[in-house]
Amino acid sequence: MCGIVGYIGPEDAAPILHKALLRLEYRGYDSAGVATLSNGRLYVKKDQGKIEEIHKRLNLDDLPGNVGIGHTRWATHGAPSKINAHPHTDCTETIAVVHNGVIENFIELRRELLDLDHSLISKTDTEIIAHLVEESIKRGAEPETAFLDAISRLRGSYAVAMIIASNPDAIYVARNEAPLAIGVGEGFNLVSSDANAFLEYTQKAVFLHNGEAAIIRRDGYRIIKLGTRSEVSRSPTLIPWAVSMSRKGEYEHYMLKEIYEQPNALRNVLHLQQIYVDLLAELIDRGRDIFLLGAGTSYNACMAGSYIFSKIARTSTYPVIASEFIDNYGSSISADTVILAVSQSGETADVLNALEYARLRAATILGITNTVGSTLTRISRAYIVQNSGPEIGVAATKTFTSQVLVLAQLALRLARLKGKLAQYEMDELYETLHSIPSIAEKVVNSTDGKMREIAENLMNSSSFFFLGRGISYSTALEARLKVMELSYIPSIAYPAGESKHGPISVIEKSYPVFFIVPRDESRKQNIGNIMEMKARGARIISVASEDDDEVRELSDYFVGMPDINPLLSPIIYAIPFQFLAYHLAVLKGYDPDKPRNLAKSVTVL
Ligand code: G6P
Repeated sequence: MCGIVGYIGPEDAAPILHKALLRLEYRGYDSAGVATLSNGRLYVKKDQGKIEEIHKRLNLDDLPGNVGIGHTRWATHGAPSKINAHPHTDCTETIAVVHNGVIENFIELRRELLDLDHSLISKTDTEIIAHLVEESIKRGAEPETAFLDAISRLRGSYAVAMIIASNPDAIYVARNEAPLAIGVGEGFNLVSSDANAFLEYTQKAVFLHNGEAAIIRRDGYRIIKLGTRSEVSRSPTLIPWAVSMSRKGEYEHYMLKEIYEQPNALRNVLHLQQIYVDLLAELIDRGRDIFLLGAGTSYNACMAGSYIFSKIARTSTYPVIASEFIDNYGSSISADTVILAVSQSGETADVLNALEYARLRAATILGITNTVGSTLTRISRAYIVQNSGPEIGVAATKTFTSQVLVLAQLALRLARLKGKLAQYEMDELYETLHSIPSIAEKVVNSTDGKMREIAENLMNSSSFFFLGRGISYSTALEARLKVMELSYIPSIAYPAGESKHGPISVIEKSYPVFFIVPRDESRKQNIGNIMEMKARGARIISVASEDDDEVRELSDYFVGMPDINPLLSPIIYAIPFQFLAYHLAVLKGYDPDKPRNLAKSVTVL
């Protein structure tokens, strides 16, 4: 949801900013721009389009100066266009600002600035920041005070970076409810929405908190609380991710690389620090109402998690879409409520908003995230970092399967705590958990080609149906989400049993229906649903146990899966659908890493 970046040091800033922006492109890619300072002048290049398209037209590396800021955009206020692209400047064209977030009181501030004869040329909320700073400077303020004053007037969410020609020795930044990390180097510093963008230069990161600003210079940084203007001292955290993890390597797309990385990502998840797993399990155990909260793919992981908690730990949990949480459950939250939030980025605004609401009502907040230092880690009483490494493809793949494996481990720990399982059941489940990475390896290697073939045959379909029962309903939801967001083909996911209560009316000859049928207690009923669909002419594509000859015979396409405890099946059964979505996108000529209108980290409500 927009990526911002800044550099100050001995090197030319523009090529560094350009490279860092490419790593942030997953956050938005409808327009981009860079601004630098040299010899008392501000230089800006920006345009509509993806970064490399703009670079071809404008050469983003060719701006002078050793200090600069950059931005890649996901439009909120104002359509994607050159004028609305960041950086935005003031009337004197000496101040440049980039911003991620939404300024809620921008209409009022804009009106005020227009009354003061500022000329505002874009439709964005961001542009006002440059003019607010300009106005303060006109009234005699120093750049630092002018910046802090301007930021203090903003309501809403923001991560902001500013440079100003009258002081080329600093980058001014601030954050509220949008992520911002300073990359601390030797004789240089960077700043970015995501530490991943600067890992190539430094693995030391300082994460700003809500309501903080920082003044970043070549040789240091000062963090300032916006409310009291007092200084805060904070030392850097070491980010363990290797740079190579965020490169595409031999793969054509990040998404494909990340699908293939799953066996290793799952292995990492089996080495969680046990004290944190214990702590989360204990805190869940104390709750009366337990919610699993997430958005997008992370919500689908919560849905799978709720089946796993119920079956393994005999504990009812409610999976909730984050943006629906307050309306649906807000009034019942109390100190007995436990919310386990699942968020890859740890920065999704819908998730953080729900958590803040619940926190103020004394609920216990727990988290599972892939991002060290994210807001979720700061507001959670206890959290687990899943260590899946950076995920650049906008569509979540390895982080989904790893989230489910974390949830399964938590459920197992809770079961032990509550004494719900016999020793032999615990041992069996433990063994199954540990066999997951090698099963995933087999599936990754065996289903890529098959799913490409199915994608070739079905790429012209106007719609798809995904059906599963029990925990496979969560797999159906995730399959639908992946396919729809990457191929732009409208799709339906339903619990198979419910499909006869309405959706079956859309079935006509050759309509493609995907069935997810691991060998579990609902298999027979699934076969009944396959028959119902076949009777109406549907084309059946089954992803089922490889030895299930009955389902094989009923299917037009059959994707065989290794034997697995059905409770962990979403981890394995999601994989062929990731390939399906990937191949559909590529075959249709779409970019699977950057589906239109989406962003990986959605930091607006
Ligand atoms: C966006 C992304 C999805 C992601 C969702 C939740 O919509 O496009 O891929 O699943 O946000 O993100 P989170 O970081 O909270 O898991």
